Amino acid sequence: MCGIVGILGGVAAAPRLVDSLKRLEYRGYDSAGVATLVGGELQRRRAEGKLRNLEGALEKTPLEGSSGIGHTRWATHGAPTVGNAHPHQAGRVAVVHNGIIENYLDLRDEITAAGAVLDTETDTEVVAHLLNFEIAKGASPKDAVATVLPRLNGAFALAILFAGEDDLLIGARKGSPLAVGHGDGEMFLGSDAIALSPFTDRITYLDEGGWAVLTRTSCEIFDAGNQPVSRPEARSSVTAALMDKGNYKHFMAKEIHEQPEVLGHTLSRYLDYGAQSAKVAGADKIKFKDLSRLVISACGTAYLAGLVSKYWFEKYARLPVDIDIASEFRYRETPMSDKDSALFISQSGETADTLASLRYCKEQGAAIGAVVNVPESTIAREADVVFQTIAGPEIGVASTKAFTCQLTVLAALALQAGRERGVLSAEDEKKLVAELTEVPSLALKALASEQAIEKLSQTLSQATNALYLGRSTSFPLALEGALKLKELSYIHAEGYAAGELKHGPIALIDENIPVFVIAPYDRIFEKTVSNMQEVAARGGRIVLITDQKGAAESGNAAQDTVILPEMSDIVAPIIYALPVQMIAYHTAVFMGTDVDQPRNLAKSVTVE
Ligand code: AGP
Repeated sequence: MCGIVGILGGVAAAPRLVDSLKRLEYRGYDSAGVATLVGGELQRRRAEGKLRNLEGALEKTPLEGSSGIGHTRWATHGAPTVGNAHPHQAGRVAVVHNGIIENYLDLRDEITAAGAVLDTETDTEVVAHLLNFEIAKGASPKDAVATVLPRLNGAFALAILFAGEDDLLIGARKGSPLAVGHGDGEMFLGSDAIALSPFTDRITYLDEGGWAVLTRTSCEIFDAGNQPVSRPEARSSVTAALMDKGNYKHFMAKEIHEQPEVLGHTLSRYLDYGAQSAKVAGADKIKFKDLSRLVISACGTAYLAGLVSKYWFEKYARLPVDIDIASEFRYRETPMSDKDSALFISQSGETADTLASLRYCKEQGAAIGAVVNVPESTIAREADVVFQTIAGPEIGVASTKAFTCQLTVLAALALQAGRERGVLSAEDEKKLVAELTEVPSLALKALASEQAIEKLSQTLSQATNALYLGRSTSFPLALEGALKLKELSYIHAEGYAAGELKHGPIALIDENIPVFVIAPYDRIFEKTVSNMQEVAARGGRIVLITDQKGAAESGNAAQDTVILPEMSDIVAPIIYALPVQMIAYHTAVFMGTDVDQPRNLAKSVTVE
């Protein structure tokens, strides 16, 4: 996924574009570039790699002009070279693009046959040429865009600048988000409210297929049929202050430590403390009462939150759950009908596979719920009901606070489902809600283990492989622990159901492979301990994450033990996520990887 920004401003655009791109780097950071209008002519500066390389290029050769566009790239078509860096230009047109033009090869053949000479391998350059052809034929920029947009298949958010048009900026979106920012005598375009937070909090989100023609004092919006429409202006809750690391070295560290607070915000949104019951507004749209099964689909860490919730829905609501990763689900053609409901979980609300799965279920007539962190996102806008995580902007590419907030929302939903299906007594609901209200304070206590974790992470950073084991709701946490370690430290790691170890993976065990065992002292603790003994008997190096009782019962099988407070079953997966996050974080810090922007990753994958 990439980040795009456009400015029609009153002062030099280049430094403002860079400031905005810094807030978008979490969306991709393979290369970056800006273009401005200087004396009516388009000028560009582009650089490979992180944004700081572009800043260096601009220091060397500054760019004038108060109208400009900018881009930070996660490479899809074409290697992350300077040549393939956006903005792409053809004649009098410069374009920045987030998404994929799926029919770009056909379009490329067409413009090449018409005499265009392309400099890059990118799909975006083709768009610039198509627009430039229309301009060369005498079309106005607005008409050129109206002609070209319908020819583009796939996903795009575009910001377009035209030579000789210092007071004109055109933006368009299909499948990738784009927002208009309204300033005082200035106008902006950005991939999201975060990009626009340095300039304005007055935001208009474009709808699917929508496009906008901006001047410094006007904003015309058109729908996919090129008809003028009006769209509301909203106040963004994202402020520039939210967007900095404060005293933390990384956004990820800040976001790990924000969890007690944001979990409290999320809980108070979905629990009625007075009545001690779940209070999830809009949950009636999921029609839990008559459901024969609940479909859940998501990607990555969000999928793992869904996997935890499967245990909860089945246990507390007696509701079977059919869960799958979205990239598989979207092509499985699962039989569905209007008797079904489906839940989609996504921090960004823009993940392409999750969105495609949502659209499949919607076409089948299912009721659609979305657990998202960005209420203006595409997934949120296409769902019948949104259950927002109140995590605040999550900038670190590795999901932390969003994950635990997703779990919190899902736990409340599962309890409400149990009540609506008449299988969870008011007394049991009261007890479970009381346990959930302990989450913020337990999260705070869990953070107290950070120093011990930092110490053991130092040895972990020498490993080349690692195993995570868990049972029941600790099994998805084992998968999450492995995912976190892989994506942050590039150490290969696997999460396994502890009971599965003896069916093959135990062959991996020797003194070189650290084995993390996630095991609160619960009704299956003894089973996990016996798996742990199997590992110890073969010289495996065990790190046990448990509570006091678990530590006492586990014998001396573990070399290291992280001890958390005792807690109830429903709370454990939420709180045990914190040491799992801290292990990955501190290991990555020791290894010197780029914690907030790990290689090859982006915060939200808006392409297949
Ligand atoms: C999480 O640490 C990863 N960065 C990744 O797996 C992420 O959870 C996944 O891409 C889904 O993103 P979403 O929640 O924005 O849909």
